[in-house]
Amino acid sequence: MYNEKVMEVFKNPQHMGEVENYNAIGTVGNETCGDIMQITMRIEDGIIVDAKFKTFGCAAAVASSSTATGMIIGKTVEEALKLTNKDVITELEGLPPQKIHCSVLAEDAIRMAIDDYQKRQAQ
Ligand code: FES
Repeated sequence: MYNEKVMEVFKNPQHMGEVENYNAIGTVGNETCGDIMQITMRIEDGIIVDAKFKTFGCAAAVASSSTATGMIIGKTVEEALKLTNKDVITELEGLPPQKIHCSVLAEDAIRMAIDDYQKRQAQ
């Protein structure tokens, strides 16, 4: 069901865990499948210097979160906000139609983490 790229990332996920001293955290879940994804980041001077994920979900969710965190490290907050689930799917060279929502979790978790960061900044 999954292409080789997805399987490769799923078997060797990068950026797994939790960023030490994170100042941004986003946790999202999908009510239908029950899967949960958490992304933590360390943002300094508007740049995402580190990002990690914890995913309790399917292979597509793990592959999406690993890929998405890799894509935002070194980026500005503004650039990361532009990342969509379509970018993640392109990077993964495609996902089966019934697994598109798994990539949406990654987009949502990143947005939620940045939202959390911006709220902390405003305090
Ligand atoms: Fe729910 Fe993949 S089946 S995140």
